[in-house]
Amino acid sequence: MKAIRDDSQSDNSAWWLARERAHLAPVLYRYTPLVIDHAQGSYLYARDGRRYLDFSCGIGVTNLGHGHPRVLEAVHRQVDKLIHISVVAHHEPMITLAEKLASVTPGELDKVFFSNSGAEAVEGAMKLARYVTGRPAIIAFHGAFHGRTYGAMSLTASKGHYRERYEPLLPSVYHVPYPYAYRNPTGPSDQAATDYVMGFIDEMLDTRVPPANIAAFIVEPVLGEGGYIVPPADFLRRLRALCDEHGILLVFDEVQSGYGRTGKMFASEHFGVVPDIMTLAKSIASGFPLAAVVARADLMDQWEPAAHGSTFGGNPVSCAAGIATLEVFEQEGVLANARARGDELMRRLRGLQRTVAAIGDVRGLGLMIGVELVKGDRAPDTDLNARIRKVCLDSGLVILSCGIHDNVIRLVPPLTLSEAELEEGWQVLQGAFQEVAR
Ligand SMILES: Cc1ncc(COP(=O)(O)O)c(C=O)c1O
Repeated sequence: MKAIRDDSQSDNSAWWLARERAHLAPVLYRYTPLVIDHAQGSYLYARDGRRYLDFSCGIGVTNLGHGHPRVLEAVHRQVDKLIHISVVAHHEPMITLAEKLASVTPGELDKVFFSNSGAEAVEGAMKLARYVTGRPAIIAFHGAFHGRTYGAMSLTASKGHYRERYEPLLPSVYHVPYPYAYRNPTGPSDQAATDYVMGFIDEMLDTRVPPANIAAFIVEPVLGEGGYIVPPADFLRRLRALCDEHGILLVFDEVQSGYGRTGKMFASEHFGVVPDIMTLAKSIASGFPLAAVVARADLMDQWEPAAHGSTFGGNPVSCAAGIATLEVFEQEGVLANARARGDELMRRLRGLQRTVAAIGDVRGLGLMIGVELVKGDRAPDTDLNARIRKVCLDSGLVILSCGIHDNVIRLVPPLTLSEAELEEGWQVLQGAFQEVAR
């Protein structure tokens, strides 16, 4: 028999990557060449023997740090009891998690449909909105990221590359600008940005997409992949009022901004606006595949049995992890920690901005923080972002990027980050700016 592998090289990352190239589809992009062996708390441990401070959380998923003991314990218990049952029967973890979720979601968002990924939750939200309104059109935002499946990809407008060679996409999807004060075409203020976007929407409703055709607006309450942009305080309120006026549903995609990332359980709470439908995924089960569409009961109750479904959605082990995740939020002061660490990081970054010309904008809420890098008169500096990331990685800190030009440093540390870990990450990040951005 042919020898498949020679384990003598298992500490050598290059050897793993060569094996990967032989059998894994190259389409799955990775931010770093690290080959991770295991992870604990705020740290990743690579096969090359090095330890990395993780300011990525697996793209905003391990918000409680890696391997939180309460989540592990719940998962171990559930694995021994029941791993899978699907739509063959009902099970306790799904019912308990739905109950617990309904107790923390805003307003009357009381009923839940579980699936496996963010994109699937977005598909579910779109289907629900069309199903209950009987209207075709969905309005999404420039810079939005909602996932890779055909429906979610049709809403996504953060990078042309995501759509290249995949058309035709879903019809009756339209895009409007997201309020982005720093780059607003009518002036760099919150008020001007909100007015600009609401004016654009009004004109669209008058001339191209009559409100009676629109099932829903879907919006990230803090724009994620599109650049970690916090909308002006009254924008979502004005969008809510417009939806109410025309019987249009308002969907908040909180796949990335939810679960404490912004220092509150859901980003919508910062703005005092309750959507009709909310999508959740990423950190809902601390790394186990789980997602949810949450909506008002009067909407969910119109979605008839078998009009939508999933084999794996609401898997018992994922739900057990989801229950434990919410218990940790309830009992371990996670939100207060996220706010304190977020305020500290933001304060330091704003200080750095005063001395580094390349830092155009520092923005965010809680521990969802973006640092926009520019050169000259606000031209996006994509290259500088890549160099900062590389220097950080070489010094043991994993950070990400975002923004339509990939010129925004995306900081997504665990919400459980300690003061000492913040200090460690800060020293590396500040050092990277000193090395490449002076
Ligand atoms: C706001 C938002 N919605 C949806 C998705 C898609 O989630 P998934 O990759 O789990 O399909 C993402 C992923 O980054 C996201 O940030």
